Amino acid sequence: MNFSKTLVTWYETHKRDLPWRHTKDPYRIWLSEIMLQQTQVKQGLPYYEKFISNFPTVEDLAKADEDVVMKLWQGLGYYSRARNLHFTAKYVSNHLNGKFPSNYKDLLKLKGVGQYTAAAIASFAYNETVAVVDGNVYRLLARLHGISTPINSSEGEKNFKKIAEDLLSDENPGIHNQAMMEFGAIQCKPKTPKCMFCPFQNECVAFQTNQIDTLPVKLKKIKIKHRYLNFLVFEDQNKQTLVEKRTAKGIWQNLYQFPLIEAEKKLTSLSKETVDDLFPSEISGIISIEKINQKSIKHQLTHQKLHADFWKVYFKSDLKSFPTTSKAEVSELDKVKTYAVPVLIQNFIESDFFKA
Ligand code: ADE
Repeated sequence: MNFSKTLVTWYETHKRDLPWRHTKDPYRIWLSEIMLQQTQVKQGLPYYEKFISNFPTVEDLAKADEDVVMKLWQGLGYYSRARNLHFTAKYVSNHLNGKFPSNYKDLLKLKGVGQYTAAAIASFAYNETVAVVDGNVYRLLARLHGISTPINSSEGEKNFKKIAEDLLSDENPGIHNQAMMEFGAIQCKPKTPKCMFCPFQNECVAFQTNQIDTLPVKLKKIKIKHRYLNFLVFEDQNKQTLVEKRTAKGIWQNLYQFPLIEAEKKLTSLSKETVDDLFPSEISGIISIEKINQKSIKHQLTHQKLHADFWKVYFKSDLKSFPTTSKAEVSELDKVKTYAVPVLIQNFIESDFFKA
């Protein structure tokens, strides 16, 4: 089947009659798209009408008082968008002679215009062959092709864009893109899609394999936890140090590390007393404590960002002669590299900080 043809035929009978679909004016298309990033069509419509009657052209918007623009935007939320909108209107009016850029690449240069908006304006206003990929399009494609790659992963973004481009018709990319979005919005809806009346029922992998409810896949945004790690690099007269084995469950279980103090935030200094709490017997031998790296060493894990600082703890006499209450063991400094350590510590050991 010719996907685009079937899609556009569906569109012609089912599409909603929306004001921005009756124009090729890039200003009006831009305005509608910025608003629709913010809200549903139904809620966005009165805002669009108000803006257009107050500011029929980009010059009118550019000349407007910022307070008036903000007042008209009130209720849409995300007010930095309204400020960007006004900024871009002034830019187009003052620097581009009131003319919106006439292609995707140049549209992208406008403030507040990303890939999605640039593709929408370029294809709707100028019929440029660039694929629009929004949430509706992701859903439609994930279901149609049975793709479980998360839509908000970089691999997903790349794959879906490629598929959307492959499906795009050269004949009428503007209508095709509108139809893709409309199909996702009112036919291939997130919940209770109208599969029984779908022209792609036979081709739709999700429908045929009963995956409509599980596609598309979206990764949950996880909150990244910041952890501030302070590793104590002891050094005694005999160039010996302390290492300890991590026994607690976690990614570093059974690996070795320098004794560690974890803090709630980045420490700017570390006192003998703090170290004393951890190593009551070693403390009596501490001469001084110095920060080794000035800038924290950052290490990104899936759910955590580690900020590591290494502190040199100069120690008089021989570490071995101090009875230890901690689980640390004494090692020669240049033997530390023979221990299995986390990459973060490995990088430190191999750096000039450690060698120096
Ligand atoms: N959502 C975002 N852009 C849209 C458009 N042009 N028509 C309908 N819904 C939309």
